[in-house]
Amino acid sequence: MPYLCKIKYFMKSALPLSVLFSVVFLFSCKHKEVRVMPDLKVNNHSFSNYDSVGIKHIHLDLNVDFKARKLEGKVVLSIDNSKGCSYLILDTRQLFIQKVMLEDSLETAWSMGQEEKHVGRALVIEIGKKTRKVAVYYNTVPEAEALMWLEPEQTSGKKHPFLFTQSQAILARTWIPCMDAPAVRSTYTARISCDNQYLALMSAENPVVKNNNGIYNFRMDQPIPSYLMALAVGDIGFLPLGENCGVYAEPDMLQKSAEEFVSLPSMISSAGELYGAYAWGRYDILVLPPSFPFGGMENPRLTFATPTIIAGDKSLVSLVAHELAHSWSGNLVTNETWDDFWLNEGFTVYFEERIMEKIYGKAYADMLATISFGELKLTLEDLMTNAPGDTKLKLNLKGRNPDDGVSDIAYVKGCMFLRLLEEKFGRKRFDEFLKHYFSVRKWKTINTEDFLLSLDENLLSSNRKININVQEWVYGIGLPEDCPKVRSTELQKVEVMASAINATKSLKGMDTTGFTTHHWLHLLRNLEPDSVSGIMRQLDTTYGLSASHNSEIQCDWYLLSVRNHYKEAEPYIEAYLLQVGRRKFLKPLYEAYAQTPEGLETGRRIYAKAEKSYHAVSRNTIREILKLNAVKE
Ligand code: BES
Ligand code: ZN
Repeated sequence: MPYLCKIKYFMKSALPLSVLFSVVFLFSCKHKEVRVMPDLKVNNHSFSNYDSVGIKHIHLDLNVDFKARKLEGKVVLSIDNSKGCSYLILDTRQLFIQKVMLEDSLETAWSMGQEEKHVGRALVIEIGKKTRKVAVYYNTVPEAEALMWLEPEQTSGKKHPFLFTQSQAILARTWIPCMDAPAVRSTYTARISCDNQYLALMSAENPVVKNNNGIYNFRMDQPIPSYLMALAVGDIGFLPLGENCGVYAEPDMLQKSAEEFVSLPSMISSAGELYGAYAWGRYDILVLPPSFPFGGMENPRLTFATPTIIAGDKSLVSLVAHELAHSWSGNLVTNETWDDFWLNEGFTVYFEERIMEKIYGKAYADMLATISFGELKLTLEDLMTNAPGDTKLKLNLKGRNPDDGVSDIAYVKGCMFLRLLEEKFGRKRFDEFLKHYFSVRKWKTINTEDFLLSLDENLLSSNRKININVQEWVYGIGLPEDCPKVRSTELQKVEVMASAINATKSLKGMDTTGFTTHHWLHLLRNLEPDSVSGIMRQLDTTYGLSASHNSEIQCDWYLLSVRNHYKEAEPYIEAYLLQVGRRKFLKPLYEAYAQTPEGLETGRRIYAKAEKSYHAVSRNTIREILKLNAVKE
């Protein structure tokens, strides 16, 4: 057979066209691999060699393509390679790398490591001793877990698509190749291009109006870790709330949001009075569509928030105090690893309650603390049976998803430890300690052990007569005996009322005059499902609970309804689960459904409809609860 014919024959017989195209495509994308692959080790959920190479600045240049659900462009890393390393190792997951350039002109060799569960793949780049700039050209994939691409119908305005990112804990690597560890901080700039109907916002200096060319430039002059990199794009407007703060939202949510957050300027000044001036210039809030999986995310200069806190009566704004408090605990002083997560969240809950007390008074703050403490008790009950190790403040998340560490332990047990210190040393002394902590540690990371050393040096050593078993609090399981008591006179009245209802199985003696959201939550949480099974309908018709528009009250009432098989609430529950994407609400409701075979079926039916409007973070949690296979890693 002549040579050409041989090839033709081979092509016809063995190579379908699609395979041939793939081969050609692969060939055209071929790049130089690194000569010797270094040893790849996962250290604190990151492959990156941050102990060897420093990242001084990040510049992002990305185009937002809503149709293809893709970000495409480059990240330019300004590095410090004074140690003369031969490689720069970055974290990636679900990313498609196109090429890597040094000093933006010289293409260099790079290789991808093996995929590791939760962590993704290392991107190993050959660099020289003198390399200062590394540009990675890449694009994201539609499934990138940090990115939520919303169809118009999933937004409030229903006319335009929307994109938001969620980088914490280790999802930044699904939209930016970076050293994705909280111990690595750098400043950043960005150029984002999108359709000119939309406004782009980042955790940086932000525009307040759209511009005609759809190109937005950003700068963040303070060094931040990768988990605080954030981007949102959509039909977004802005309203100022004070000189240095305001709110962004879809146009039809703007007014409501601005009214709900009127206390923002006073929260910012109260926080500053407590622990030192606000360090980030402006503080704005972006109200996202309801699929945002969290209550809030403390992206610097621009907190991302769920619309479920807009209750119309300002009763859920403590979440804003929480995210604002992160501007100190978390963003200024950052947990070094996800095992030290309590240093971010425990401090923040403590700080949040102090801000709320300063503005709304002690009785109000006591209610908030009592509610959180109740949540901690339930979490402890569950974890002490199922995962006692996870009740320690200092966690061990090696080989696990850092998401596993997000529980009331870090938040509320962490806060209770700080309350104990306050109680023992007095508020004045403890506040001085905290103020000093924020001022000397700012722009740095800290781990639990460093914190304990500085606690000893700056507080415990001042009065050795005061005895606190720090080791037990931090490294022990459960809740130590000396845990401070939280008491709310207001909520004690509610407890009396709940006991009467539980005992008499009737609404006699129930008086809701003066009830706020928190009274309701406490009441619903203290009702025993069995005792109220006969009075669910009466409760509902008297107080309109199924039709409530308060996301927190709805969640608690619906939980009681699922547990009691109170059918009348079902359409409301379904509507709620289809509308809201906040994991904190979805998780207990689906868990309650999963308790019975019939409930599991209902849960799965609703989930099938709702799935596409949930964020990957929520989807992963719920798939596990509903025992749906192929849980995404
Ligand atoms: N930083 C957290 C959210 C987070 C933690 C995202 C870990 C990913 C991994 C944020 O500050 C937070 O704690 N949000 C809470 C609200 C708060 C009032 C307890 C939430 O989303 O419910
Ligand atoms: Zn938080």
